[in-house]
Amino acid sequence: MSNLLEGRVAIVTGAGRGIGRAHALELARHGAAVVVNDYGVSLAGEGTGETPAESVVAEIEAAGGRAVVNTADVADFDQAEAMVRQAIDTFGGLDILVNNAGFVRDRMLVNTAEEEWDAVIRVHLKGHFAPLRHAGAYWRAEAKAGRERAARVINTSSGAGLQGSVGQTTYSAAKAGIAAMTLVAAQEMGRYGVTVNAIAPVARTRMTEGAFDTSAMALPEDNSPIVAWLASAEAGDVTGRVIEIDGSTMTVELGWRHGPARDAGRRWEAVEVGPALRDLLAQGPDPEPVYGA
Ligand SMILES: NC(=O)c1ccc[n+]([C@@H]2O[C@H](COP(=O)([O-])OP(=O)(O)OC[C@H]3O[C@@H](n4cnc5c(N)ncnc54)[C@H](O)[C@@H]3O)[C@@H](O)[C@H]2O)c1
Repeated sequence: MSNLLEGRVAIVTGAGRGIGRAHALELARHGAAVVVNDYGVSLAGEGTGETPAESVVAEIEAAGGRAVVNTADVADFDQAEAMVRQAIDTFGGLDILVNNAGFVRDRMLVNTAEEEWDAVIRVHLKGHFAPLRHAGAYWRAEAKAGRERAARVINTSSGAGLQGSVGQTTYSAAKAGIAAMTLVAAQEMGRYGVTVNAIAPVARTRMTEGAFDTSAMALPEDNSPIVAWLASAEAGDVTGRVIEIDGSTMTVELGWRHGPARDAGRRWEAVEVGPALRDLLAQGPDPEPVYGA
């Protein structure tokens, strides 16, 4: 136990199992009181009627920490607001939001059903937006009342969203959206003392076990110390960043940047574009390979 997060209050979404569970245990180990959120759904997002958050709360309490169960669907706007309210009512405030909940329905693009697209986009993108929207409004109100809270948001992107992943069009689009949301939220909320970063984790969980050879894959808890530090008051100078974590290696992800450019000085003629664009493409670095390509 350290006191890195002593006196701070956290929400971790999707914390009943996998990476979110590891984050919740780690934040509690460093002194945070934790709202352990989990809707309790299958890997494909179907209801199971179970609340794995309860056993995580029991583990935290058995280790001497403070935690409470929340069973919100994080992509439901009103339930996300009630989750933020629960943290404030139970523990007296909110300092840390770890957006982690999500599920996959992997398909090649041409086989993807409309309903699969909607469900995966909803759980990741709206499931990040809704808690962030309500927590952000609370932090703005606190800052305006002279009670700025050194608040920290850690979102969950993915290598699939940053480099792309064959067979995961929908998931990759959602996770790329989370990376972009992180950049904008960091700019908008900085004035209230809030930092917003994202991680791209790697771990052997039910999400990866079916899809890849996970025998040498990192463990969920390998991701959590970096989340704990980003959640601390001392991390106030790091914002708008995406950090990949793979076992013992953390990598700063560099996003879209302006590359080679040429100004025609007038509107381009279509017939000129081919040679000019090929020349520019040859000047820049090759894109990183898409996972599974
Ligand atoms: N495992 C990896 O290698 C990996 C890689 C990159 C990104 N990620 C991301 O990390 C996060 C955690 O993944 P994991 O591997 O631990 O998966 P997991 O399936 O083990 O855990 C996800 C948890 O989220 C919960 N959940 C799903 N929808 C929810 C909702 N609407 N509201 C509340 N809870 C909900 C589930 O019940 C589950 O307990 C996800 O966002 C995932 O996309 C994982």
